[in-house]
Amino acid sequence: MLRSSITPQVYTINLFISALCDSGRLDYASKVFDEMPKKECVPNVYSFGILIRGYCRNGLSLMGLEVLDRMESVGLEPNMVIFNTLVSGFCREGKVEEAERVVERMRARGLNPNVVTFNARISGLCKAGKVLEGYRIFKDMVEDEEVGLPKPNQITYNLMLDGFCRVGMMEEAKSFVELMRKIGCFEKLESYNTWLAGLVKNGGLFDASELLNEMVGKGIEPSVYSYNIVIDGLCKQKMIPKARSVISLMRNRGVFPDIVTYTTLIHGYCNEDNVFMANKTLDEMVNNGCFPNTFTCNVLLQSLWKEGRIVEAEKLLEKMREKGYGLDIVSCNIVIDGLCKNGKIDKATEIVSGMWHHGSAALGELGNSFLGLIDSKDSGPKCEPDLITYSALINGLCQVGRLDEAKKLLIEMMVKNITPDIVIYNTFVGGYCKHGKVSSAFRVVKEMEKKGFKPNTKTYNLLMWGLGKKRKFSEIQDLMKEMKEKGVPPDVVTCNNLIYCLCEAKMVKKAAALLDEMMRSNILPNVTSYRLLIKTFCKASDFDAAETVLQAALTTLGEKEIIYRLMCNELCTYGKVLEAKEMLKVALDKGFSIENFTYKYLIEELCKGGKVDDAQNLLNCMLNKGYQFDPAIFLPIIDALVNMGEKREANKLSEHMMNMAAHQDKSIEGSHLYPNMMKERSKLNQDSSLGNDWRSILHRDDGSGIALKVLKRVQKGWGQVIYKCEARISCPMLVFDACKMAWYLKC
Ligand SMILES: *[C@@H]1O[C@H](CO)[C@@H](O)[C@H](O)[C@H]1NC(C)=O
Ligand SMILES: *[C@@H]1O[C@H](CO)[C@@H](O)[C@H](O)[C@H]1NC(C)=O
Ligand SMILES: *[C@@H]1O[C@H](CO)[C@@H](O)[C@H](O)[C@H]1NC(C)=O
Repeated sequence: MLRSSITPQVYTINLFISALCDSGRLDYASKVFDEMPKKECVPNVYSFGILIRGYCRNGLSLMGLEVLDRMESVGLEPNMVIFNTLVSGFCREGKVEEAERVVERMRARGLNPNVVTFNARISGLCKAGKVLEGYRIFKDMVEDEEVGLPKPNQITYNLMLDGFCRVGMMEEAKSFVELMRKIGCFEKLESYNTWLAGLVKNGGLFDASELLNEMVGKGIEPSVYSYNIVIDGLCKQKMIPKARSVISLMRNRGVFPDIVTYTTLIHGYCNEDNVFMANKTLDEMVNNGCFPNTFTCNVLLQSLWKEGRIVEAEKLLEKMREKGYGLDIVSCNIVIDGLCKNGKIDKATEIVSGMWHHGSAALGELGNSFLGLIDSKDSGPKCEPDLITYSALINGLCQVGRLDEAKKLLIEMMVKNITPDIVIYNTFVGGYCKHGKVSSAFRVVKEMEKKGFKPNTKTYNLLMWGLGKKRKFSEIQDLMKEMKEKGVPPDVVTCNNLIYCLCEAKMVKKAAALLDEMMRSNILPNVTSYRLLIKTFCKASDFDAAETVLQAALTTLGEKEIIYRLMCNELCTYGKVLEAKEMLKVALDKGFSIENFTYKYLIEELCKGGKVDDAQNLLNCMLNKGYQFDPAIFLPIIDALVNMGEKREANKLSEHMMNMAAHQDKSIEGSHLYPNMMKERSKLNQDSSLGNDWRSILHRDDGSGIALKVLKRVQKGWGQVIYKCEARISCPMLVFDACKMAWYLKC
């Protein structure tokens, strides 16, 4: 047009700028904007608006703000839409204060923020986790009519609901849904989908399935997105068969699974380590006319790398290339990260330098199977190393202590115009701390401050961890003070660090007081916080204080197996066996798994201390409640009973033990061998001669863990007798017969 001396109209140019913005070419868009022929074709409000929207949509709201300044400087009046665009842009980027300033500017121009403005603010606050602040605005909108605030609309309600779900405030979310139902604004697919996603994210899978049914019942046809939410939840909970049944359900209702559905399913299989089914699903997907995209493949790739299944990952890469999927920077980064995590950092470094020249073809350097890739003329998406690539590499190097090389990479990335972020600096801080170079870590912090990055909570946590390892407890407390002064909010990790150091420094009372302080500052202590305290109090034989902490833990975290276990095991370790026994009995009453309780040690200790009745009582409790446990715990009790001359009781218990062990043997191995062995055993009882069959069982080399453990106990208890046949006995039944024999001998 220009060459033909046709002056484009503003309208034409605006279209062009808009298209450039939509395809993310903001540099071109702003160039076209700047070069608009000023005389005939002056940028109008729309031109500015389009450019501002372009910046905001691409996460560059600050640059959008500059355009607004320019607009005002040429005397154009920004309208409501432009202001709202900026407000939501800033909110999306989490720059709530900037957003507020824009709101001030619009007020100054006599424009009253409307519901769109408010929605943007609520959305921004909720996404930044400040749900209660968002809710305050929402309530103002509902209540303060006289101030002239706009009424919340459907979108406002959905945003609030999403906000509550996002931070797991499910009680609030539930009552909010009730409220929405009451005023009739819980009718739209949007709201249902928000609530579905919230339920699934917060473990309410069952309620989510009910909700799906409710939707169908109410004639609100769930979309493929609705089904995908539920399928994703099911897959994450490793309930793939259920997920499959939801897929059948959606098919029956005429909704067809899409790329996301299949990719979710593939992800689920990968997480279960079931590459076979993942691969099959890939085929199924293609057969159903749904073609995987690079994202699907990246999911597979990621899982394979995570598992260290390098060969399969390589095969997949090859397949992706064959089928013509462009490898994007995400694929490249997965591979780089995978290599680093699998200890092949040098290979990763090599590939990254290759990427600067060949793009994704550099992955060809991965192995022989990829030689072909090097020559690939594949002009897929540009694949140059980015911040993530370097983060992976630097993290890999820092983890293994190659800190100087990591530093070189940091310089390299800056030379390539990739600005390191706080995550990378924290990686260095963590790396130095991990390898005992705390003063270097502090130097990194100075460096990052010079570059304009304020150390965040993570930075401080890492420094404290490093100092803790060097037992520099007073310096940790200094850091804590510094955090307060600089307004860096502590989190549970910070507090746990402090609790740890106070405990180690024998200031456990002060550490315990920190629990209250945490609650006051809205930092929920976690199991680690309580464990540190319970351990320390028990170690110092202050069992009453430990009990107080236990009660606090139960109040804050709820009745959890781990809390009882902690207390029981610590009590046991520090000699309070009767208290430990009571704790274990509570756990039994509550039906918790006792897998990780030190019940064996506890029973041994009880017997050792002459408290055989208590040991037996505990054992009976476990038996009566149908618990499965290591049959070896019978041994100390039988031993003690024998010593006390309670021959009949001991006999009864050893029968019990043998039955139980045999039963467990069967259930563990699930093998058909057991009935045979049973037969053999009765034969043995009859004529006590070792036949040929016995010999073959004896040589069966599949001793289960139980057999070996029991064997050890037997060796300890009846050393001389059993010694002769020690390692050759791998059959549990034999061990028990040996025990029994030993016991008779002893009697
Ligand atoms: C995936 O399935 C294809 C056939 O559909 C087969 O050729 C390939 O070997 C399978 N790959 C894996 C890793 O199981
Ligand atoms: C509790 O916090 C610590 C950090 O101090 C963390 O390592 C641990 O994983 C957390 N525990 C739970 C159960 O979240
Ligand atoms: C017991 O510990 C093992 C290994 O740490 C863990 O996998 C298992 O889940 C634990 N069991 C319970 C009931 O917490």
